[in-house]
Amino acid sequence: MTALPMVVPEAGLPAKVTIYEVGPRDGLQNEKSVVPTEVKAAFITRLVDAGLPIVEATSFVHPDWVPQLADAADLMRGLTADLGDAARQLPVLVPNQRGLDRAVELGLRHVAVFASATETFASKNLNRTLASQFEMFEPTIRQALDAGMDVRGYVSMCFGDPWEGAVPVEQVVAVGKRLLDLGVGQLSLGDTIGVATAGHVKALVAAFADAGVGCERLALHFHDTYGQALTNVHAGLQAGVTTYDASAGGLGGCPYAKSATGNLATEDLVWFLTGLGIEHGVDLEAVVAASAWMAGQLGRPSPSAVVRALADTAG
Ligand code: HMG
Ligand code: MG
Repeated sequence: MTALPMVVPEAGLPAKVTIYEVGPRDGLQNEKSVVPTEVKAAFITRLVDAGLPIVEATSFVHPDWVPQLADAADLMRGLTADLGDAARQLPVLVPNQRGLDRAVELGLRHVAVFASATETFASKNLNRTLASQFEMFEPTIRQALDAGMDVRGYVSMCFGDPWEGAVPVEQVVAVGKRLLDLGVGQLSLGDTIGVATAGHVKALVAAFADAGVGCERLALHFHDTYGQALTNVHAGLQAGVTTYDASAGGLGGCPYAKSATGNLATEDLVWFLTGLGIEHGVDLEAVVAASAWMAGQLGRPSPSAVVRALADTAG
């Protein structure tokens, strides 16, 4: 039986949190080797079965830019054959109209565009300027909304940029507001290189509130480079944010930001929320088992402390 923490709630935190699983996309986009399509499909199926309410499956980006996810269409076709309509509800990244067309062809319902808060990362990740990235997003978002799809908007480098250093919160808010004005439903604020600290998280959420964007429109997306991800979640909870991106087993990074390391591990987040008595709906033992299995496929141990602590006991 998997150990669970004692439940001791803390006053003032949300009663319920949504975990937005990004391991199959943010995790596997960054692997040196290309993971076979059937292994990706099995990983996704196990994560869905573990009760994760949202599992971001892959990216419809240029295959030369991210060869690890070049099998996106085959993966989604295979998952649709296995899972039926549930597979069409899995979100995917689309940077532009070409990516959206590929998702629409497969009948997918949830897409996410990804913007940069900085000039340098817009150039490196999207081959666009800070301003011209919106020319790519505007028709993509409009077309998706017209088709009745749901669109999430990521903003990267919200807490610091490896080329530009500090990123002013006003700059992040301006990019986020542009995406919301274009019609995205939820903004995911990315700490792409894992440099955020708790006060900064609260300051950014407060800056969005001052700009009229409530925390119900926000998600937080932490990478764990400096071991601050859970502390940053705690700060986000205190600020009222209820959606957190996480990656099973702590897989992750960004191929266009070398200093990006693994995401906040889903298991570490589940353990933390469970201890606080915050409802999340995820079966810890089943996620640990999925991550331990995936670590075996990748040939190296998971960086997640909770996976390391529990892997031997998970079924
Ligand atoms: P580009 O070279 O400027 O593209 O790349 P283009 O619009 O000039 O088109 C050039 C050719 O690519 C054309 O083909 C297009 O059809 C084709 P041609 O006419 O020459 O034969 N093309 C495509 N093919 C397939 N799928 C597509 C697509 N788009 C164009 N979607 C582009 C611009 C955006 C495509 C490129 O920069 C790209 O793919 N970037 C993706 C980078 C990426 O995936 N990064 C990782 C995800 S972001 C992340 O991890 C951060 C996040 O986790 C949050 C955080 O942590 O901060 C989300
Ligand atoms: Mg990321």
